[in-house]
Amino acid sequence: MGVLPYIVLTIFIGGHIYRYQKDQFGWTTKSSEFLDKKSLKIGSHMFHWGIIFVFLGHVLGIIVPAGFYDSIGVSEQMYHVVALIFGIPAGLIALVGLVLLCWRRINMKRIKKTTSTSDWVTLIVLLVVMGTGLIATFFNVDSSGFDYRTTIAPWLRGLFIFNVNPELMVEVPVWFKIHVLSSFSLYVVWPFTRLVHAFSLPFMYFRRSYVVYRKLDKSHP
Ligand code: HEM
Repeated sequence: MGVLPYIVLTIFIGGHIYRYQKDQFGWTTKSSEFLDKKSLKIGSHMFHWGIIFVFLGHVLGIIVPAGFYDSIGVSEQMYHVVALIFGIPAGLIALVGLVLLCWRRINMKRIKKTTSTSDWVTLIVLLVVMGTGLIATFFNVDSSGFDYRTTIAPWLRGLFIFNVNPELMVEVPVWFKIHVLSSFSLYVVWPFTRLVHAFSLPFMYFRRSYVVYRKLDKSHP
């Protein structure tokens, strides 16, 4: 847990630069909406909304130091109760959404045909990362004996300022270790999959001119 995160980060950044140089036209969600819209809607909404809240939870629980909460009067127990009340439903909603998206790809012929190996890898890695995150959370639901805010959190924050402390991860329960390591594999495959669309939020969409559709005037060849 010392050098590995930096190797992963290098592949993540380098991979995105490489993909942008080599495959700008392939930088897309590769949407399958036109093949089947109905089944996509619910799974995709659940997955995306769930993952947004899971991401926010990770920022509030891991990036924001525990000392900040102490300074604004949020006790240890209060923090954990709120984290679980929001975190578990968000994680479950995202996971159910993902299972629905997988089901759709497996059972709908046209969608299965257009699913590439990189799509399957993405779905499987996401299932493992989210599944292990939820398992780790359930096993630690009473937060007795293990606090990720004094172990995993400072380890991760340290990486950003090159203050590497792998010893903080030694006593971390195995499910959390699997969760973090499997998330590394997600970052490694990320640049080579449709996940790149996460960095292409369609802000330009709101500013661009209208696309005008006109009926073809058959009298003018
Ligand atoms: C280095 C990266 C990561 C670290 C250090 C990390 C750490 C953690 C920790 C400490 C928890 C327990 C939270 C709690 O008990 O309240 C957790 C839960 C969870 N993690 Fe992660 N995680 C990482 C990446 C990810 C990624 C990339 C995903 C999703 C794609 C993810 C999905 C989840 C889910 C679904 C849970 C279950 C509880 C919840 O929804 O917050 N994690 N993770």
